[in-house]
Amino acid sequence: MSAPESGSLGVVVKNLRKHYVSGGGWFGRDKQVVRAIADVSLTVPKGVSVGLVGESGCGKSTVARAVLRLVEPDDGTIFHDGVDVRALTGKALREHRRNAQLVFQDPFASLNPKRTIWQTLEEPLRVHRMGSADEIRRRVERAILEVGLPVECLSRYAHEFSGGQRQRIGIARALILEPDFIVADEPVSALDVSVQAQILQLLLRIKEARGLSFLFVSHDLGVVRYFCALTNVMYLGRIVEYGPTREVMDDPRHPYTRLLRDSSPIPDPAQRISLVSSAQELPSAANPPPGCAFHPRCPRAEARCRREVPLLRSVDGGAGRTVACHFPL
Ligand SMILES: Nc1ncnc2c1ncn2[C@@H]1O[C@H](COP(=O)(O)OP(=O)(O)OP(=O)(O)O)[C@@H](O)[C@H]1O
Ligand SMILES: [Mg+2]
Repeated sequence: MSAPESGSLGVVVKNLRKHYVSGGGWFGRDKQVVRAIADVSLTVPKGVSVGLVGESGCGKSTVARAVLRLVEPDDGTIFHDGVDVRALTGKALREHRRNAQLVFQDPFASLNPKRTIWQTLEEPLRVHRMGSADEIRRRVERAILEVGLPVECLSRYAHEFSGGQRQRIGIARALILEPDFIVADEPVSALDVSVQAQILQLLLRIKEARGLSFLFVSHDLGVVRYFCALTNVMYLGRIVEYGPTREVMDDPRHPYTRLLRDSSPIPDPAQRISLVSSAQELPSAANPPPGCAFHPRCPRAEARCRREVPLLRSVDGGAGRTVACHFPL
C-alpha cells in the first residue's frame, strides 16, 4: 500500500502541527507552550473507520478538531476528497462543514437542555437550507428512527433521556446533514459498558448503511478493535504506530503500543514486557522529552532514542504497517 495522495478520496492529513500557550500570569512568568500536535499525518480512506488511540493529553481531540477546522492548526495540510480544506472560505467552507460532522464524547454536555429534540435536529437543516418544511420534517423523522428512537421523543427535552439515548440523539444530529465523514471523539467513553456496546453496534450499522468514513478517537483499545479497520497509535503529539487494527494490537511493533495493549482489560501475560512503572511522573506535551518522547518509559531505550526523534517507517516491506521507533519489537 503506497502512501495515499492528497487527491485521493477520503481525508488526507499531512504534517499537522498545533501548539497552545497557556498560563501567563505576571509578566508571562508561568507561560507554557504545549505542543498538542507535534507532527501528525494520517489518512481516512473513503468508507473506512480509522482509529486514533493514546493516553489522555496526547493530542487526540486536538487532531480531531483540527481536521474539522474547529481549531486552526499552525501548520500542515488537510485534504477531503481532493479538496484543500484549509483553503476553504464562505460557501465552500459551509459545504465542508455539512459534509464532515463531529460526534461528541459527552452526550450530557453537548445537547442544549432548553431545546426539544425536534429543535436540536431541525436547526442544522434550516441553517444549511436543506429543503422545505415538509422535507425537513421527513429528514428529522428519518434520522431519529435511524438511531433507534421513536418519533414521539422529538417533542421532549434532552434531560428526559438516559446517557445512551442522548448519544443516539447526538448521532442523529451528526447524521442529519448527510455527511460522508464523521469524527467521533470518545463517543462511548462516558457511557456504561453495557450501553457502549449498543452505541457501537448502532454506529457500525449506520456506517455500513451509509458508507461513511470515520476518524474514531478513543483511549480504549477494545472499542477501537471493535470499530476500526485501521489504527493510529498516538504518543505526545505524534503517531508512533499505524496499521490494520488487528495486526497492530496482536503484534505491536512499538513498545508504547505494547504497553497500551498490556494495560488493557484482556492482557496476554505471555507477551508482556516489563516497562518502567507508569506510576512515575508521566511526560507531558508541555515538556516533552528530547528524541523519542517515549524513551523515559521504554525499556529498550538507548542513547540514540534520547537524541533523535524516530520517523514513521515501514516495518513490513510496504504492506501498510509503519512504526516510529529506532528499535521496533
Ligand atoms: N485550549 C487549550 N489550551 C491550552 N492547552 C490545551 C488546550 N486544549 C488542549 N490543550 C493541551 O493540549 C494537549 C493535548 O490535549 P488533547 O485534549 O488534544 O488531548 P487528548 O488526547 O484528547 O486527551 P483526553 O484523552 O484527555 O481527551 C494537553 O496537554 C492539553 O492540556
Ligand atoms: Mg480528548
